[in-house]
Amino acid sequence: MLIRVSRSLSRPSLCVQRLLRCSSHTQLSQLHSTSIRKSEVKIKGTAYQSDDVTNVTPRILSKIGKNLHTVKHHPLGLIKRRIENYFYTHFTNRVGNPLFAIFDRLDPVVTIHQNFDSLLTPEDHVSRSPKDTYYVNRDLLLRAHTSAHQEEIIKMGCDAFLAVGDVYRRDQIDATHYPVFHQCEIVRLFTEGEVFSRVKDPTGLRIFDEGDRRSHDKQEMHTLEAAKLVEFDLKKCLLGLTLQLFGKDVEYRWVDAYFPFTHPSWELEIFHGGDWLEVLGCGIMEQKLLNNAGAMSKIGWAAGLGLERLAMKLYAIPDIRLFWSEEEAFQKQFRVDNPETPITFKPLSVYAPCLNDISFWVPSNFSSNDFYDLVRTVGGDLVEQVDLVDEFTHPKHQRTSHCYRLVYRHMDRTLTQAEANEIHSSIGQKAIENLGVEIR
Ligand code: DAH
Repeated sequence: MLIRVSRSLSRPSLCVQRLLRCSSHTQLSQLHSTSIRKSEVKIKGTAYQSDDVTNVTPRILSKIGKNLHTVKHHPLGLIKRRIENYFYTHFTNRVGNPLFAIFDRLDPVVTIHQNFDSLLTPEDHVSRSPKDTYYVNRDLLLRAHTSAHQEEIIKMGCDAFLAVGDVYRRDQIDATHYPVFHQCEIVRLFTEGEVFSRVKDPTGLRIFDEGDRRSHDKQEMHTLEAAKLVEFDLKKCLLGLTLQLFGKDVEYRWVDAYFPFTHPSWELEIFHGGDWLEVLGCGIMEQKLLNNAGAMSKIGWAAGLGLERLAMKLYAIPDIRLFWSEEEAFQKQFRVDNPETPITFKPLSVYAPCLNDISFWVPSNFSSNDFYDLVRTVGGDLVEQVDLVDEFTHPKHQRTSHCYRLVYRHMDRTLTQAEANEIHSSIGQKAIENLGVEIR
């Protein structure tokens, strides 16, 4: 069977087993200049000591606490309510109460343990690098995925839950990438009795098996029958959710995937708008993760989905920046009482873009994400897209040059070329000052 190295739900960074070596230590010490260099970083009233790893920008910090997923008539709030409704109506406990607990206000400032170690992310995994992740300081970061909360919630004794929240990643700039987006994590654990509850005669059936080997279908300590029943439950639950969101006739497929915290792992894709769209990533939780969280007698599955990606498809929202729009013309289109109401977004008028290129020689420790962050800091949401259009290394002096094309566009009016030029030249100026590039 095809093992696809997964693109992430929303970003390429976390779920891909990119075997690029990233010596986290050296990279942690490479400080980049778009960061705040004051001695403390204030987040929602709490002051955190900054240090040489701090790379959060004021622009990023300004997004914390907006909690778009909890705004009732926001497209992300509507999707979240649809997901909750699915779980509330299909899964109840023995006395009719919802089986899945919902956490939607967890602090996005998390520890390295929460975001990486608890999820068994390899030490040299590229997602740990400050090139990919926003660090508050050496010990704390802005969560890069909602999976960061799995361990703590399981430790609370919760066996079925959703964790919904804003997540942060340093990344490219285009219509589908924004450094802040939202995810929903889903986790369900089972006791041995629960796994085999539908089997007529479960005598002798176990979830754990000593001395077996890891295979394509299961982890070494699980029995094949337990792994298969949990896989069945996972697929039934997640497919049900997907069909509820996209309609029962949507074409779908399960694709093998890899995540450090699940095995086996899959992605669920649907055929939408002429293309296969990844809806979610999921898998049977690594038993080591459950053991560390104190749930050693249980087996479980987990899944994660990106809300913007779903909302963009479901409502035909063409640009991810629109989720942050405070324009009435955007917001009023989502003012419906019933979140199941179908909505097709009517684009606000589309104003002409301005295109400007910039070329520079880069220093040896340069990362494109530093430039993207700087562009966001200086140009804000006026920058629609940034593409690295040319890269070459001079054969004689071995210096590398990058050329980026920046697309500027205002969402609500025409941007003049003069205005674009002004932003463009401050971006150039700041790139010289903060990133040590040399304009060509
Ligand atoms: N955390 C993954 C990401 O951000 C998504 C994910 C994949 C979550 C598989 C899961 C899972 O819980 O089992 O790309």
